[in-house]
Amino acid sequence: DMAEKGGYPDFMMKEIFEQPRVVRDTLVGRMVGGELSIDELGLTMEELNLIDRVYVIACGTSYHAGLIAKNLIEAWARIPCEVEAASEFRYRNPIITPSTLVVAVSQSGETADTLAAIRDARIKGAKVFGITNVVGSPVARESDGVIYTKANKEIAVASTKSFIGQVVSLTLLALLLAQVKGKLTTGQVRMLFREIGDTAEQIQHILDTQEQAIHEAACACVDAQSALFVGRGMGAAIAHEGALKLKEISYLHAEAYAAGEMKHGPIALIDPGFPVIAVATRSPVYDKTVSNLKECEARGAKIIVVATEGDADITEIADHVIYIPVVRDAFSPITATVPLQLLAREVAIMRGCDVDQPRNLAKSVTVE
Ligand code: G6P
Repeated sequence: DMAEKGGYPDFMMKEIFEQPRVVRDTLVGRMVGGELSIDELGLTMEELNLIDRVYVIACGTSYHAGLIAKNLIEAWARIPCEVEAASEFRYRNPIITPSTLVVAVSQSGETADTLAAIRDARIKGAKVFGITNVVGSPVARESDGVIYTKANKEIAVASTKSFIGQVVSLTLLALLLAQVKGKLTTGQVRMLFREIGDTAEQIQHILDTQEQAIHEAACACVDAQSALFVGRGMGAAIAHEGALKLKEISYLHAEAYAAGEMKHGPIALIDPGFPVIAVATRSPVYDKTVSNLKECEARGAKIIVVATEGDADITEIADHVIYIPVVRDAFSPITATVPLQLLAREVAIMRGCDVDQPRNLAKSVTVE
C-alpha cells in the first residue's frame, strides 16, 4: 500500500506532489519548430478561425478549470465564452451554431452529464473538443478532437493533479485560439508558453517551502463551522476550487465568493474567528481584494491569504500567509491552487477524515 503511494501517506498527497510533472508532461510536444501544435483537435485552422462562441461544459472540479478557461479565452482570443455545468447545459436550449465550439472537460471522460451534453451539442451542430485524462474514454471517442491531460491515473476521489493538467491544457487551447484569431503573435505565444513551463518549478517551490505555513493555516480552520473563500478575477475561480476541495474531504462547510460581492451577503456571516481564505496574489485587482479583506478584518475574521512572495504588507491584515512565487496573473491558477489543495488535505487529516475516499462521493459519476 505504502509502495503504491510512493512513500506518501495517502494518494491525495502523492498526486499533489506529482503536479510539477503533470505540467511538464502536458506541455511535451506542444511547441514544434516554434509553433504551438495541438494536432489532435481535429479541426483545420480555417475551421478554428470561424469559431465565434465557446461553451465549456463540465462538472465538479473540471467545471472550475472551465472558469479559468473562460477568463483566458475571452482575454486572449476575444471570443465570447460561457462555462456551464453539464447537468444544466443538457436540459436547456443553448444557442448553438456550426461556429460554436463546445469544450467538454472531464478527468474520467465518462461523467454521464458531460457525455449527454456532448451528444446534444453535436446533434445541434457544434464542434466538440474533449479535454480528458483517460485515453479512449467516451468523452475522447465522442468528441471531434481531444487533448489529453497527462496526469496519469488519479486515485484520490477529490481531483488535484487532473485539475492542473486541465488548466494547462485549456491554457494551450486559449493560446491557440488567440493565435488563429490573430490576437496574439507567434512570438507572444512562444513567450507565454515558456512561462507556463516555469510554473512546474514554481509548484515545486511551493511544495518545498510552504508546509509549515499551510499547517498553521489549517489549525486556524480546523474547528470552524464554516469557511469563506474569496478572490477576484482568477482569484475568484481559484477560490471556488479551494472551497470545493475543503468541503469534499473535510466535510467543513465552505463557500466561495467573488470578493467584491461579499458586501451583498456573505459579510453578514462574519463574526470573530470566522475563517476567510483569500487568494490575493499580485494582479490588477490586488488592491481591490485587499480592501475587501480589510472589511473582514474589521469584523474579526481570521484571515488566511495566498499571496505573492515579496508581499510583506499583506501581513498587516492576514493572520496567516502562504506565499507563492511571482507569476503572471493568467497562470496564477496553476500555482495558487496548490496550497489550497494542501490546506484542504491538512484540515481533513486533522479532522480524522479519509482524504482519499470521502463519504458520499464517487471518483466518476456515470449515472445521472
Ligand atoms: C466527481 C468527482 C470529482 C470530479 C467530478 C467530475 O464528482 O468526485 O472529483 O471533479 O466528478 O468528474 P470528471 O471525471 O468529469 O472530471
